Amino acid sequence: MGNSGNLRLSRVLLGVTAGIAAYKAAELSRLLIKQGHQVQVVMTPGAKNFVHELTFQSITGSQVRHMLFDPAHEAAMGHIELARWAEFVLIAPASADFIAKLYAGMADTLLHTLCLAVQAPIAIAPAMNRNMWANPAVQHNIMGLQQRGMTIWGPAVGDQACGDVGPGRMLEPLELSQRLKDYCHSSTGGSFIGRKVLVTAGPTYEPLDPVRFIGNRSSGKMGFAIAQALSDEGADTVLIAGPVNLMTPQGCQRINVQTARQMYDAVMEHIQDIDVFIGCAAVADYRPEMMLANKIKKGDAEMQITLVKNPDILQSVAALPKRPFCVGFAAETENLEEYAKAKLRAKNIDMIAANQVGEDQGFESDENALLVFWLEGEKQLSKQTKSTLAKQLVELVSEQLNKD
Ligand code: C5P
Repeated sequence: MGNSGNLRLSRVLLGVTAGIAAYKAAELSRLLIKQGHQVQVVMTPGAKNFVHELTFQSITGSQVRHMLFDPAHEAAMGHIELARWAEFVLIAPASADFIAKLYAGMADTLLHTLCLAVQAPIAIAPAMNRNMWANPAVQHNIMGLQQRGMTIWGPAVGDQACGDVGPGRMLEPLELSQRLKDYCHSSTGGSFIGRKVLVTAGPTYEPLDPVRFIGNRSSGKMGFAIAQALSDEGADTVLIAGPVNLMTPQGCQRINVQTARQMYDAVMEHIQDIDVFIGCAAVADYRPEMMLANKIKKGDAEMQITLVKNPDILQSVAALPKRPFCVGFAAETENLEEYAKAKLRAKNIDMIAANQVGEDQGFESDENALLVFWLEGEKQLSKQTKSTLAKQLVELVSEQLNKD
């Protein structure tokens, strides 16, 4: 698939044909963009009866193509150029008529012509009434397309717009976007395909009163880079983030929290079926015993705040009866190795990534260096961007996981 080794670069041509499910293709285009693809929508003339091209245009930011003989576009990106541009073609919804003409090799619409001209893989998401889907002519065409190497995604079974219930519904946009993601990863051999991972990132803020909190200087950059690296390797990634000002990594499900206790609750809510837990958040070890309802007023020369201990999220996850592979972080200003190894044992985790917090590395910097320890080994990851470092750490986790 061309350069789709990096999911974010892949160019998807989304073909929309005449069916009521065409309205769902708008959501699909949005999800594909969110997943990091460039999306070019091509509609059949009939599809325009169901959804306006402006809808797609607004979402994808590029003009929808539908005319086979369009002088304006032939001057810019002609239909053959468009076919060369595409790294993946997804037809959703694919009507019975579209499928039949595709099988017959017809080229009377732009979309059919493109399907004949492209070298890229083609996936088809059929959508039609259940009796139409069951019709031997449709089944024959579908099987024929499959034999030619096209991928058929769906249809799903369920309620249909016509009132029938049965197979024929287009797969939901979320399911289709996931299939494309899995396809991209399997064609590039993503090492976390089929794995579920949970990452915590950023600081936690522990409120003292409505305007003040105890927090720390974690930027969340390392945890976000790890979530992105995992997602790029095909992991189903949940990212639980403290208060940070960062874009959600592509393909990740993000849950925002403020306090350590909220982070603990969110982790425990999502921990089931998780294969790998990476605790990268700088969780506040203590919180004020009470959050005052009103702003604390200036008073005597001194004031005392009583702090109570927060739950240790990583340790709690590692103590679960059916626990995931657990990775912790240790940010230290001194005795890096000694403290990190002690934490590995004390928290009973599988791996720990230690980093020296210093002047130009650590919390707020874009670069970092890590010393990674696991029970039988260690590896030094030299100073580099957090995004490269995250990829190397994810590779180490994958090696250890696959040893078991
Ligand atoms: O004990 P310490 O806070 O230094 O350990 C750091 C590691 O433990 C990090 O991976 C951090 O995410 C995790 N941690 C946690 N819950 C806490 C404190 C730390 O998950 N309350």
